[in-house]
Amino acid sequence: MKVTAHRGVSSLAPENTLAAFKKTAEMGYQWIEIDVQLSADQIPVVIHDQSVDRCTNGKGIVAKLALEELQSLDAGSWFSEAFKHERIPTLEQTLILARDNKLKVNIEIKLYPEDDIELLCEKIKEVIVALNIETTQLLFSSFELAALKKMQTLLPAIPRGLLWSVMPENGLDLLTEIDAFSVHCHYRHLTAQQALAIKKAGYNIYCYTPNNPEEVSEYWHWGVDMMITDYPQAYTACKEALLSYA
Ligand code: G3P
Ligand code: MG
Repeated sequence: MKVTAHRGVSSLAPENTLAAFKKTAEMGYQWIEIDVQLSADQIPVVIHDQSVDRCTNGKGIVAKLALEELQSLDAGSWFSEAFKHERIPTLEQTLILARDNKLKVNIEIKLYPEDDIELLCEKIKEVIVALNIETTQLLFSSFELAALKKMQTLLPAIPRGLLWSVMPENGLDLLTEIDAFSVHCHYRHLTAQQALAIKKAGYNIYCYTPNNPEEVSEYWHWGVDMMITDYPQAYTACKEALLSYA
């Protein structure tokens, strides 16, 4: 099944936590997507928002909090009391869990205004190199072309996917510029015609974040390769239903 668990299985466990990643492996899916930014003391951490407010019991900007402060927060109770021991994981903790559970990781390089693109990329590289992870286990993505260009220089063997919401007019040129593996686009804005052009140019198409497989059933015929979803289980159920007709 060509599905990536968006922030882990974020419909069943708090997003971007080790619990959500473990669930991905337990349920038999191969890929997780995670969002990575830097703590104030320059450690790559896994959290989506610019602040910790929505997904922890704390308050403040991620980039202004040191790792120790970030990891003192409860990152699970907002989702359910059962997850109150979850913490904001580091990239290192996430990659170790992925390695031990044979998960593949789509690392989204998450940049907010004033973030230092080069520094974040360098720090991500340090973690990956220290863990000696197989390049086939990883995929970088980012809305920032500059981040992917930097990664092309730092770790050229790891494939790159450019994120966009609406396809820019020069979209195919941008993909060429970074020798992209894939484009990750918002499923609501992708058209059949665009998909055809992207596939013809030789790129993989990933769609975020369709949570209802019926909404994108046609997309598979357009050649879409991967759905990045909070509900990978919905796709499995859908496939089983289809197979029972065969
Ligand atoms: O990587 C796909 C998707 O995660 C991009 O948007 O805001 O969920 O990180 P966002
Ligand atoms: Mg993301």
